[in-house]
Amino acid sequence: MKKVGVAILGLGVVGGGTYQILTQNREFYQKTQDVDIVVESVLELNRERALSLGVPAEKIMTNIAEVVCNPDVNIVVEVIGGIDAAKEYVLAALNAGKTVVTSNKELFCKYSHELERAAKRQNAGLYFEASCVGGVPIIRTLLDGLQANHITSMMGIINGTTNYILTKMSNEGMTYEDALKEAQRLGYAEANPTADVEGFDAAYKLSILSSLAFHTKVPFSKVFREGITQITQEAIADGKQLGYCLKLLAIGKQTDAGIEVRVHPTFVRKDHPLAAVNDSFNAVYLHGDAVDDVMLYGRGAGALPTGSAIVSDIIYAATHSESRYSTFKNTANADKSVNFPSDFSSAYYLRLSVTDRTGVLAKITNIFGKNNISIVEMQQKILDGDKAAVTFITHESRELAIRDAVSKINALEFASVDSVLRVVS
Ligand code: HSE
Repeated sequence: MKKVGVAILGLGVVGGGTYQILTQNREFYQKTQDVDIVVESVLELNRERALSLGVPAEKIMTNIAEVVCNPDVNIVVEVIGGIDAAKEYVLAALNAGKTVVTSNKELFCKYSHELERAAKRQNAGLYFEASCVGGVPIIRTLLDGLQANHITSMMGIINGTTNYILTKMSNEGMTYEDALKEAQRLGYAEANPTADVEGFDAAYKLSILSSLAFHTKVPFSKVFREGITQITQEAIADGKQLGYCLKLLAIGKQTDAGIEVRVHPTFVRKDHPLAAVNDSFNAVYLHGDAVDDVMLYGRGAGALPTGSAIVSDIIYAATHSESRYSTFKNTANADKSVNFPSDFSSAYYLRLSVTDRTGVLAKITNIFGKNNISIVEMQQKILDGDKAAVTFITHESRELAIRDAVSKINALEFASVDSVLRVVS
C-alpha cells in the first residue's frame, strides 16, 4: 500500500484536530482510500501540548528545516495562521517539493499567486479547502461540482463569530459588547476580535471564493468591507418589525458592470434560506446559470470541522498523481479589463433621529428625490419631547447616492442618520 508522510506545522486548535482525525482514522483511510497516511512530524514549540495530544516525542520538531529536509514527509500542513512565519514555512516546503495543505485564508488571499508559482515550479500541490468556511466543502464545490456553470451570484455567512454575536443580539436582546464577551468566553472570538468583527476574515474568504467563482483574481483590496461594531439594538428591533434578520453577508456578483465584492451587515428577509443560519454556523448560497440555486451549510470553524477540510485535501493529494491548481488566472492583480464597481446598487434601511416638526420629512424626502432614491416603506416613532425616530426602506438605489444623501441629511440641523444598512431585496 502506498505510504504518504504528513508534517503538521502548529498544533493549535486546528492542528490538534487534524492530528486527531489522521491518527483515529488511519485504518479507515487504508481501507477506503488504499493509502497509509502517517503523521511523520509536527512543528510545535510547546512540547507539552504536543505530548498531551499523543505525538511521540521523536516526532516533535522545533525547526522548519528539520521538517522540510525529512524525505519521509510528502505533505506539509500549515495551520499556524498569519503571514510572516507561515509564508516563509510554506515557501520552504514548496521549494523542497512538498505538497502544502493550508487553512490560512489571509496568506492564500494575499499571496496565492506567489505560492502557486512556487508549487508549479516543483510540481508540488497547493490545497486550501480549509481556508474558507471550515468544514463546508465550498472550494471543492466551486472547483469541481459547479464548473459547468457561470456563477452569477454568491451570498454567504462566512464568519461564525459575527453570526454568533448577531444571533445573540437578535434573539436574546444582548448588547454588542455583551454578545462579544460571550463569544470570547466560548472561544469563538479572539481576545483581539478585530479580524472577525471588522469583516477582515470574511473579506479574505470572499476574495478567495470570488476568484474561484468568477475565474479571475479578485484582490483583497477590491472587497468593500464594513464590520458589525456599529450595530445597535434599535436597528435590529426595526428589522424584526419589518420582517428582516441581520446577517454579516459576504456578497459576490457578476454583473454587466463588473464584479461586485462586498462584506457588510445586511438585512435579509426572514423567509430567505440564509435567515435560518444562526449561532456560529456558516452557509453559502450560490446561483449558477445551469444549476439554479445551491446552498451549502455547516460549521465554519473548530478543530474537527476545519480538520475535516484539511484531511480531505491530504487524501486528495495522497491519492492523485497530478496536482491541481486554482481555476483562475492566478496573478497578483486582476486583468485590467476586469472592473470592480464601487457604486453598486442595493436596497437600504436608514434610521434617522429627527426633530418632530412641520416640514422636516419634506426636506428629507426632497434630498432622497434629488438623489434618485425611492422609498418603499417608512415608519415614524415619536420619542421623548419633540424627538422622533424615522426609518426608511428604499428601492434599489446606488451606494454613492445613498452616501451623498446621508451627508446632506446630517448637515440639516434637525435630523441625523443613526444607521444605514443594506437590504437583500
Ligand atoms: N474566525 C473565523 C470565524 C473562523 O469566526 O468564522 C476561521 O476563519
